[in-house]
Amino acid sequence: MLISVSDSCHAGTRTDESGPKLVELVDTSQKVNATVNVGSPTVVPDDVTAIQEALLENCKNSDVIITTGGTGFSKRDVTPEATLEIVERRCSGLEIAMHTASMRITPMAALSRAIIGIRGSTLIINMPGSVKAVKECWEAVEPVLNHAIALLK
Ligand code: MTE
Repeated sequence: MLISVSDSCHAGTRTDESGPKLVELVDTSQKVNATVNVGSPTVVPDDVTAIQEALLENCKNSDVIITTGGTGFSKRDVTPEATLEIVERRCSGLEIAMHTASMRITPMAALSRAIIGIRGSTLIINMPGSVKAVKECWEAVEPVLNHAIALLK
């Protein structure tokens, strides 16, 4: 399951590129089990309630939920706050892995407050909103995703 968090994409003034990029990355992954079906991205505005509704709605039937966008410092960036109230267990190792890999590529990665955690048997991963960041963050979590999902079953 993918959730693109963006006021402008939700309003239709900008086209969501990161969501479709993630679909492509997951669908073509050689490392992630074919049963991980993320479907097409749901687009929600930068709003805590809207993000949480989308997360809760999809927790029941998703092994993994990946959000893109809304992890930065601007006042409208609330994806981490919304996610923190939904996850029951933080995955600090995965957060560090994603941030460390990103920091090796750009110091700007320090400006993402992305959270990764577990609710029930669903792994929830925040990623930043750019296509570049999504690709880099995916490469950081991809190698461990199969094992992580298996452990949650
Ligand atoms: N992480 C990676 N791997 N690559 C990037 O290019 N961009 C950073 C950061 N994380 C970036 C990254 C930038 S410039 C910002 S502002 C923050 O993510 C927050 O992005 P968001 O508000 O779109 O979530």
